[in-house]
Amino acid sequence: MDHLLIRGGRRLEGQVAIDGAKNAALPMCVAPLLTDEPVRLHRIPHLRDVDTILSTISSLGKEVRHDGNTVEISCGGALKSEAEARYVEQMRASFLILGPLVARLGHAVVPLPGGCTIGRRPVDLHLEGLCAMGARIEEFPDHVVVKAEQLHGARISFPYPSVGATEHLLMTAALIRGETRITNPSREPEIGDLINLLRKMGAHIVVGKMSIRINGSEHLHGAEHTIIPDRLEAGTYLLAGAITGGEVQVMGVEPGHLRSVIEVLRRVGMSITESSETIRLLGEQRAEPGHVVTAPYPGFPTDLQPLLVALLCLGRGESLVEERVFESRFAYVHSLNCMGGRIRVIGRKAVVTGVNMLVGAKVPALDIRAGGALILAGLAAEGETVIYHPEHIDRGYASIEEKLALIGAQIERGK
Ligand code: UD1
Repeated sequence: MDHLLIRGGRRLEGQVAIDGAKNAALPMCVAPLLTDEPVRLHRIPHLRDVDTILSTISSLGKEVRHDGNTVEISCGGALKSEAEARYVEQMRASFLILGPLVARLGHAVVPLPGGCTIGRRPVDLHLEGLCAMGARIEEFPDHVVVKAEQLHGARISFPYPSVGATEHLLMTAALIRGETRITNPSREPEIGDLINLLRKMGAHIVVGKMSIRINGSEHLHGAEHTIIPDRLEAGTYLLAGAITGGEVQVMGVEPGHLRSVIEVLRRVGMSITESSETIRLLGEQRAEPGHVVTAPYPGFPTDLQPLLVALLCLGRGESLVEERVFESRFAYVHSLNCMGGRIRVIGRKAVVTGVNMLVGAKVPALDIRAGGALILAGLAAEGETVIYHPEHIDRGYASIEEKLALIGAQIERGK
């Protein structure tokens, strides 16, 4: 069975080059559905999720050309209105095709999305937004059929700032008649990056304090854009430095996007210095206990919560980590406890009692970031850790074993 094998106990030291952000790349691969002209995207990471979204887009009639980390998406023929389940089921971000297809074609049939198993992940905010824009939606157990003679701008107020719904409605609103105002939108850096691409494509978007205003255009055009660095990948390598008591520098990042992560790492005793495009972490001591709550940006990212818990497992005392974004994102805790961790989950809270050491074990990667947490634990553990289902890790981390090996980890892929 495919696996990653880690021989733990080595201090990581060195520089890691950070790739383009997965969560920015995914919606940006969907945006070309809004135009027939070519869109060129630079710094696209080599990831399974990116391959999946590009397959989705080409199955809808787009032509996709790769050249290293650049992808050009152009018109390959007539756009299709029906998406194939085999792509959309693999990944939640594929659902973002729905609004753009309806804006272009007036109708679409899209399967309900899959993705990481980190709790109920409904699409009600996506569908309510499209409904407010004049779409008629028929929901079936495994797909939706959406029709609209002509979508129009709408006032949409989110009870919760969903990343995906904000992206979905932003893209749709860019190509429909009238003004759309999204109140309480998500403010993740990846949303800002998508807005930058849409503006280059000719969209009129004004970002205010409480809302985003989009003045729809009848026509959007081609564009060229370089994707922001992946703050979650950067955070992962900083945490890998911290858990191994090492010294790791992440290169080509935007430190401003990692403000909450830097602050938490400093609070638990890590020494961090930053310059315009790099962050350096020196992990000279075991982590101090902390109380950390995940929240939408600019709060501490839910995607780094499992990795932080892995670090606090080897901390000096009792920590509390609260998950406020997804209702069940602690499934990986069982594996950390198998490795000697002492974590108790009470609802959305994890009480982490620091232990002196972790020991290698055979554990499954349940999703991208749970896999990241197990890698971190394996790097710090005594003995060998075998992580099954590395395909989940490959969805979100490009060349992870090569990058870790370059800074001193003993990690290899096996069958
Ligand atoms: C995106 C990120 C993911 C990250 C998450 C939160 C991508 C490809 N993925 O996921 O890595 O963990 O943001 O930062 O960018 N919700 C609803 N109804 C909806 C939509 C969402 O109730 O219609 C809820 C979800 O169940 C969840 C919360 O809102 O509890 C956050 O979800 P959302 O922000 O939409 O996350 P994603 O876009 O799926």
